[in-house]
Amino acid sequence: MTSEKNSVPENVVLHPTQVAPSDRERAVAQKPFTIWFTGLSGSGKSTLAFAIEKKLIESGKPAFVLDGDNVRHGLCSDLGFSAEDRSENIRRIAEVARLMNDAGITVMVACISPTRVSREKARSIIGDERFLEVYLNTPLDVCERLDPKGLYRKARAGLIPEFTGISAPYEVPESPALVFDASQMSVSACVEEIVSKANGLWR
Ligand code: ADX
Repeated sequence: MTSEKNSVPENVVLHPTQVAPSDRERAVAQKPFTIWFTGLSGSGKSTLAFAIEKKLIESGKPAFVLDGDNVRHGLCSDLGFSAEDRSENIRRIAEVARLMNDAGITVMVACISPTRVSREKARSIIGDERFLEVYLNTPLDVCERLDPKGLYRKARAGLIPEFTGISAPYEVPESPALVFDASQMSVSACVEEIVSKANGLWR
């Protein structure tokens, strides 16, 4: 399934835009990028992503969150949590992030994205120069204790198969741009650090 979707289609030719990236950047007054949050369920990805979105929008910058849970209500509602479906989920999210970046919007992705290979694929789809990987290394026992959605409890009871961190693997990123333990730092401190790192990318 995945390889077919990745192949270049026959008899379909790309149409070029008349808008140079620099002209578009001037129009939206930003160089758009993707902040890719990875980590366990409940590690703080969505909280940080939505906080950054709010901050960017308040400062007049087009910004949008692609949240794993939200995307699975629409674009990816046909996908489950097998390794293959997760990889397709991440590929689709990365393709949308790329389009949004091309359109001038800064994107925060909040999805577990548990494998290195799928995150590297996302980086190559979006473009290394506009991809910022942020790892939430909030410990499993903290995520599990807080368990705001009650999913760890269900997973431990065997009611959710292939649950990341319990019965499905999570591969720690090898060289993320930033790492935060959400149980040790305030949301605002993390947001400040991420935004300043992201700004630094474009100076
Ligand atoms: S990913 O692995 O494909 O990147 P994604 O971020 O989209 O996952 O979705 C994860 C969210 O789905 C979790 O935050 C949790 O709320 C929910 N979920 C439901 N089933 C599972 C599961 N088996 N493993 C992990 N998360 C699950």
